[in-house]
Amino acid sequence: APEADQATLRVQLPDELKVRQCPFDPPQALARMHARAPVNQVTLGTGEKMWVVTGIDEARFVMSDPRFSADRFNRRNALISVPEEMREKLFDARAMAGQFVAMDPPQHTRLRKLVVGQFTLRRMRALVPRITEIVEDHLDAMEAAGTSADLVRAFALPVPSLVICELLGVPYEARADFQRRTSTLIRMDTPVKEVLRVREEMREFMRELVDAKRAQPDDGLISGLIHGDHAGELTDDELVGIANLLLAAGHETTANMIALGAFALLEHPDQLELLRGNSEIADRAVEELLRYVSILHMGPFRVATDDVEVGGVRVPAGDTVMISTPETNRDPAHWEDPTTFDLTRERNPHVAFGYGIHQCLGQQLARAELSVALPALVRRFPHLRLACRPDEVPMRDDMFIYGVHSLPVAWDAPQA
Ligand code: HEM
Repeated sequence: APEADQATLRVQLPDELKVRQCPFDPPQALARMHARAPVNQVTLGTGEKMWVVTGIDEARFVMSDPRFSADRFNRRNALISVPEEMREKLFDARAMAGQFVAMDPPQHTRLRKLVVGQFTLRRMRALVPRITEIVEDHLDAMEAAGTSADLVRAFALPVPSLVICELLGVPYEARADFQRRTSTLIRMDTPVKEVLRVREEMREFMRELVDAKRAQPDDGLISGLIHGDHAGELTDDELVGIANLLLAAGHETTANMIALGAFALLEHPDQLELLRGNSEIADRAVEELLRYVSILHMGPFRVATDDVEVGGVRVPAGDTVMISTPETNRDPAHWEDPTTFDLTRERNPHVAFGYGIHQCLGQQLARAELSVALPALVRRFPHLRLACRPDEVPMRDDMFIYGVHSLPVAWDAPQA
């Protein structure tokens, strides 16, 4: 393991499995691996072995078989190479409280149920009209500001940030801080010391907010967890952990889908025109975008708790398994022409939101945001175009959540 003061969470994955040759396609080495077998063993930079799943049936199996644990922190995870004393700090019980994405039943079941109970009909019904307003406001601001913008800063990041703030009851003025902290945590080479510091800041921020809501309830989801039907069932550490998980998962993922989705549309003008002209295909288009530009760069991860046969191999207890969502979503056994971006696909059983008990809890929210934001963007700016060469767009090969760091776009001024 590296020296404590330089340790990072850097994924010791060979570059050929990490670096993409085309901004939208998974690294080519994954397709070569998949041609050999749906589950392959790879050797990490540390010399440790790990399993990579590229077949969709095998991916679903791993994500739904209880012998694969999502509790990747208490067990040994081959991908996290840090000194032992840091591992203890990194995964200490208070810091992990509420992080149910990394828990197994029955702990996971209990927390997920409480959160799902807050996605009430009333909250969900109000969502699409409010998302539409937020999207239109941001498009108005872009138009008023000129004929070019960085789409990430002007649209893709603020829209889901504001939506999740309103849903949770987090003040939007805090966005610069929470956006910066989230992006620090999902950068692969952030030093562990920095991870610990930023995580403490996030807990501090959320603890104050939870205290404030305890004293003065509002309509948001955090207040609902504190004061609703299940009041008193969560500890403060759990409330803080859940709220931070939702805040991070709620803005960063969708922001990258909007921006990378827009880039994919700009690079496939026939598909962009199709979306612009046919509002009835918006839902199908969103599923194809989720499949074609899967933003989970690597993972989900699981650890085998028993010896398990999958895809013709035997994964021994204790081994780490990485599902490659992008490659899995191109499994030729399930899609015709999987490398083609086709917004009209009818059957599209992708796993961009995962599968099984951890399947994305925010997927309806994410779908609502994408199906409003992308059609509205291409309709507002009929001559929307990339304002740099496609190979100049800075891609997020260095983040756990893939996408673009920025996306310079331009459009024509409206005719006077
Ligand atoms: C879980 C993807 C948006 C909240 C997951 C998982 C995936 C995923 C793949 C499964 C992780 C695993 O099995 O280990 C995405 C994508 C999104 C998105 C691609 C955007 C397009 C959101 C939003 C929220 C959210 C907007 C906000 C509420 C969560 C939570 C979990 C989760 C809380 C953990 C669920 C559990 O462990 O039971 N997401 N997500 N996600 N997502 Fe999302």
